[in-house]
Amino acid sequence: MSSEQHSPRGRFITFEGIDGAGKSSHLAAAAAFITSRGRRVVTTREPGGTALGEKLRGLLLGESMHLETEALLMFAARREHLAQLVEPALARGDWVLCDRFSDATYAYQSGGRGLDRGKFEQLESWVHGHLQPDLTVLFDLPAALAGQRIAAQARSLDRFEREQAGFHERVRRAYLERAAAAPWRIRVIDASQSPEAVGRTVEETIASHCR
Ligand code: TMP
Repeated sequence: MSSEQHSPRGRFITFEGIDGAGKSSHLAAAAAFITSRGRRVVTTREPGGTALGEKLRGLLLGESMHLETEALLMFAARREHLAQLVEPALARGDWVLCDRFSDATYAYQSGGRGLDRGKFEQLESWVHGHLQPDLTVLFDLPAALAGQRIAAQARSLDRFEREQAGFHERVRRAYLERAAAAPWRIRVIDASQSPEAVGRTVEETIASHCR
């Protein structure tokens, strides 16, 4: 057997939070931190991460659609992403750092849109079986503050970013409920701190949780 067949499975780390929480800007630094600890890391995102997934992302962020179509397309993009990128990377021992995963569907499509979460439990088990992130870093801050950060960016907003503050507050609550239900996996970070303080907390969280 080659040494590759013996490589231990990599770690699966996801970043979550409401729009404007700042998680995406910490992704590259977190990847560099993991690399500095001697691991190979793949960074990716949802919806997206594959050629097909990025096309679905364009539709999801740009086109209005039935709420259940939106939820199903999120899971369709996820199935492709897992098959093409996430599962092969973990199997060869790489760490995968993913900007959003299924917690986002619970938070946005159930918490934000009000769809029945029971349907997502079935889809989740179909699409990713027993696979769950080893660690989820939840960037938490009040929706009003996140809204101010987005407004300061002076760019055109996608379909989710254009939602009212009430939507984002429901999404935030749903994220916090998920964190309370799975504290061994989901770590909440106060994203209202300075970027430097948030970055340090992200590194400490990854170092203590994933060895
Ligand atoms: P991003 O801007 O963080 O890359 O995420 C794109 C948007 O997609 C964001 O507003 C949240 C939304 N989203 C969902 O509504 N459900 C999901 O399952 C995922 C992965 C993202």
